[in-house]
This record gives sequence, C-alpha cells and structure tokens, in this order.
Amino acid sequence: MIEIRQFRWPDYDAVVGLWQSAGRDVVPRDELAAKLLRDPQLFLVAVAAETVVGVVLGTYDGRRGWILRLAVDPTCRRQGIATSLIGELEARFAALGCPRVNLLVLPEDTGALRFWQALGYLPAPDVLCSKPMPAPR
Ligand SMILES: CC(C)(COP(=O)(O)OP(=O)(O)OC[C@H]1O[C@@H](n2cnc3c(N)ncnc32)[C@H](O)[C@@H]1OP(=O)(O)O)[C@@H](O)C(=O)NCCC(=O)NCCS
Repeated sequence: MIEIRQFRWPDYDAVVGLWQSAGRDVVPRDELAAKLLRDPQLFLVAVAAETVVGVVLGTYDGRRGWILRLAVDPTCRRQGIATSLIGELEARFAALGCPRVNLLVLPEDTGALRFWQALGYLPAPDVLCSKPMPAPR
C-alpha cells in the first residue's frame, strides 16, 4: 500500500538518498525551506511501509506549474509509484487553477521520456537557457 503525502522535514535524508540513487542534484535544505514558504503542498513523497520510496517537487508561479526532481527507489520501479505521485501532483495543480505544467528531460534519458509520454507529456521544441543570478547584497 502506497501513501502519497506532503513532504515533512524528517523525510529529508531519505529524499536525498532517492535523488542521489537516481543521479539527480540534491536540493539543499535552505532552498527547500524557501520553496516550502510558497507552495508546500506541491512537494510530495510516496511512502510504503513507513519508508519513503518516491519523491517529486512541484512548483507553481501563478501561471505555469513545473515538475522537478521526480525519483523512485530503483528497487520499487515499474509499480506505478511515479504515476501515483504525478497524479496527485496534477490534482493539486488543478486545485490551484494551474492551466499548464512543464518539465525538463534530458534527450538521452529514454526511460524517463517514455514515462512522461505515457502520462501525456509531449516534447516541445524549446531550448533551455539558464543564467545564475548574483547573491543578494
Ligand atoms: C522515471 C521514473 C520516475 C519512473 O518511475 P516508476 O515508478 O518506475 O514509473 P511507473 O511505474 O509509474 O511507470 C508508468 C509507465 O511509464 C513507462 N515507463 C516508466 N519507466 C520506464 C522506463 N524505464 N522505460 C520505458 N518506459 C517506462 C511505462 O509505460 C510504465 O508503465 P508499465 O510499467 O505498465 O509499462 C523512475 O524510473 C526513476 O526514478 N528514474 C530515475 C530518475 C528520473 O529519470 N526521473 C525523471 C527525470 S525527468
């Protein structure tokens, strides 16, 4: 039985382990603390027998939703856990009135691409551009 619920701080070490085992960058505590001030209900974990086996970080800027850092324990994949996480996250986006959700996938990450396409997320031709901002003075 899988429970999908909002992240709680005691989950943090397990979430870090999931991100690391999936090769994803770890979101540091201070960045998460800032995110949780805005939309804490969009940071979800999947729990089986009191163990955190999946995680996804959603954000909503008032116009678009973004899905980040989805990861499922390698020993628990292909059991529908990511599908359940995204289903719950989509319901929460909808409750906020979010009209469209975006995410980024590396082109060589064919497994993840198949997963997203199975859920109806279609590739767009946009190219990601990124620039770090200076620290606040
Ligand atoms: C991608 C990932 C989150 C999928 O999690 P999961 O819980 O195994 O996914 P689900 O069981 O809900 O899969 C649902 C469907 O997606 C597709 N799918 C999922 N993983 C797939 C893979 N590796 N290859 C091909 N199709 C896949 C299948 O259609 C699957 O249905 P099926 O098992 O009945 O065939 C997981 O493999 C993972 O954590 N990967 C490493 C991190 C990562 O790539 N994150 C996403 C980055 S954008």
